[in-house]
Amino acid sequence: MSTADELHQAQVANWDGPMGEVWAASEARSDKALRGVSNALFRVADVESGEAVLDVGCGGGATTEQLAMDVGSTGRVVGLDVSKALIAIAQKRLDGTGQAEFIQADASTIAFPKPMFDVLFSRFGVMFFGDPVAAFANLHKAMKPEGRLAFACWRASSENPWVSIPLRAAMTVVPPFPRPGPEDPGPFAFGDQARVSRILTEAGFSGLKFKQFDFTMDFTGLGLDAARAVSGVGPLGRILRDQPDDVKARAMQAVADALVPFTIDDGVKLPASVWLVSGSAS
Ligand SMILES: C[S@@+](CC[C@H](N)C(=O)[O-])C[C@H]1O[C@@H](n2cnc3c(N)ncnc32)[C@H](O)[C@@H]1O
Repeated sequence: MSTADELHQAQVANWDGPMGEVWAASEARSDKALRGVSNALFRVADVESGEAVLDVGCGGGATTEQLAMDVGSTGRVVGLDVSKALIAIAQKRLDGTGQAEFIQADASTIAFPKPMFDVLFSRFGVMFFGDPVAAFANLHKAMKPEGRLAFACWRASSENPWVSIPLRAAMTVVPPFPRPGPEDPGPFAFGDQARVSRILTEAGFSGLKFKQFDFTMDFTGLGLDAARAVSGVGPLGRILRDQPDDVKARAMQAVADALVPFTIDDGVKLPASVWLVSGSAS
């Protein structure tokens, strides 16, 4: 069994490696598919002009860009991400925007010089820590005492057909593979509300609220590439990466077949569900 640190380092290596590259290649498409979540999360975060915001796991900077507009010229946004490839995209996107800055670092260990942020924000960037209590406690140190938290994380994979349907289809082809434990870091590690509450409370946050947000993952306009796009951004991408080409091809066909009932507008639309989590640093 791997230790929390080994699991964490594997996540860091994956994001500052192959998974970061996959996300970098599909950044615009992922942002379009996740636009509904962003808008709902921006409403929860309610960022005001002049505030300082930390965008954890900022990826290619799509949310950082909106946050920079929200804080305006008197505010400040720091986009933090472990992936060199994604930070490069984010930097290019916000080139010349004075109030945004990007740092390539591990959110679980980065040391900010003082409590400086009004808002800790993240769209799907906080589920990859081997020791989530320690990571959130570390981020908590960077928050002003009256600061607040707003992030989006996936609910359980069983509540997310956009992941469970392709995965189930691929499993009819791919040889058995080790499944992550329910508390192992990964996209669905924060599906259990009670667990996330416990983690955040132990890390120093309070007044926690969980809002369920259901939406549709839109992979339309992609034609035959829709199955590849759906598989690429979820955990299936990692599983298929190590398979021989013939297995990959048969798995992709199985996924495409399973997605037929969801085909619309030259692509697919699939149900998805997230938690919008908010709270206070005090
Ligand atoms: C699912 S992606 C989301 C990216 C972006 N927030 C978005 O919504 O497009 C998760 C992001 O978290 C980053 N990440 C994972 N572990 C991290 C860590 N320990 N510290 C900082 N960033 C991390 C990844 O590199 C990746 O960009």
